[in-house]
Formats: sequence, C-alpha cells, structure tokens
Amino acid sequence: MRLIIEQDYDLMSKWAANYVAKRIKEANPTPDKPFKLGCPTGSSPLGLYRELIRKFEAGELSFENVITFNMDEYVNLPEEHPESYHSFMWNNFFSKINIKKENVHILNGNAKDLVKECADYEAAIVAAGGIDLFMGGIGPDGHIAFNEPGSSIASRTRQKTLTTDTIIANCRFFDNNVDLVPKTALTVGVGTVMDAKEVLIMVNGHNKARALQHAVEEGVNHMWTISALQLHPHAIIVCDEAACGELKVDTYKYFKDIEKDNLL
Ligand code: GLP
Repeated sequence: MRLIIEQDYDLMSKWAANYVAKRIKEANPTPDKPFKLGCPTGSSPLGLYRELIRKFEAGELSFENVITFNMDEYVNLPEEHPESYHSFMWNNFFSKINIKKENVHILNGNAKDLVKECADYEAAIVAAGGIDLFMGGIGPDGHIAFNEPGSSIASRTRQKTLTTDTIIANCRFFDNNVDLVPKTALTVGVGTVMDAKEVLIMVNGHNKARALQHAVEEGVNHMWTISALQLHPHAIIVCDEAACGELKVDTYKYFKDIEKDNLL
C-alpha cells in the first residue's frame, strides 16, 4: 500500500485528481474500451470532484468514454431527495462534466427487490469488465462505502444496517435530526472494492486519525474494513497531515521518505 501524505485537504484533493486524470488519459478510453471509475460520496471527495471538473472545463480531461459505478445509496430515500447519493453525484459532479447518463450506475435504494438490485449491480460491474479505479473515503470507524465494522472482508453488494455512529455522523445532512437519516443502505462489498484493479482512498481530518492508524499500522481486521486494502496489490491512501495524528512518528517518516520523489 502507498500512503501519500499531503499538507492539507486542498493538496490531498489535487493529488487525487491528478492521479485519476493521469489514469484516465493513459487508458485512452474509447466507446469499445471505456474507463470504469468507482465513485464515492461524502465530504472527502468534494475537493477531488471540484478539481476534476476544473480539468474538464480547461479541456484537459474528458469523461465521454468513462463509465461510473457508485459505492452506495440509502434505502427508501427518494432519488430526488437532496441528500440521496443520486442527488449528490449529479449536483456535485456528473452534471458538470461530459459523462453520458447511460454510463452512470448508482444503486437503486427504492427497488422493489433489493436483493436482485444488488445482484444485478455486481453483474453489471462484471459485464463492464470490472472497475479500473475505485475512489473512496472512509468513516471515522474505518468503514469503506457502507461496510460498517464487522462487515465481511469478502462481502459483495448488499443491504447493510447503518451503525448509530454513522447515523449520528450523517445527521448533519438531515437537519441534525438522527430520525431523518435512513437506517439502512445498499453498498458495494469490501470484496467488490477489492476486485478493482486499483483503489484510491482519501482520508482527511483529525476525526479520521484512528481509522488511518488501523488501516496502515494494524492487521487486516473486519472491525476496520478499510484495513482490507493491505491485501490489495494496487492500493493508495492519500491523506492530509491532520489525519496522521495517530501514526507512529517512524511510520509517518517512513512514508514521507519513500514517497518523496514520487510526484504521482
Ligand atoms: C458515508 C459514505 C462513505 C464515506 C463516509 C465518510 O458513510 N457511505 O462512502 O466515506 O460517509 O464521509 P465523509 O467523507 O463526509 O467524512
């Protein structure tokens, strides 16, 4: 696993955006050979999305032949609700780039048969040829997508119950009212993320420091699902200084040293 430590949120976001742009450009995607990008929601990727939009507007990057698969979606929240992940993605990213609507995949948390919806989603990823690069953030408890503590490291797309901690963390988007936060979500599994050719995770802020410490310094453990990344052949975590607060000084210095000449 690579750990890239940037000074602050803006630099972390720029590093991530440069990496994603580089990968898309290198792949030189065509309609027959599209680039498949896994997308997260949350505050962590907002700066990355802003920077990717800027690159698109500057004519540096095209999403014409990019197919996206989002990580998760709340169950029983109308798609048009301002806090649904459908709304989040269109408002913050998709409506501002040249992605084709038919190339966007987001789980339908209002499907009649949620088990089928999840199985179909996995099948759609396989039919597309797998995900080239899965971007993501993590929760303060180290969850990736909505794979809450105790989720199987081998899990696939399914419905998950949200923990009280996650409901409290997300109630800031629902008038600070925990009762308004959906109690379950559909989410890709840890195994789904691990199948991607590359995984790029953004971690910023003091409140993610414990999770980063578990991801980097402790063993693979289903209580910190992000730690599964240790088993991925091409995993990168890009973080800010604030998120490094719980790392050993030696760990911090080690990654700073080994990455000092790697600009991307
Ligand atoms: C939710 C999402 C995760 C996200 C996490 C952290 O739980 N399902 O994908 O990583 O929130 O959100 P934020 O980036 O706002 O801290």
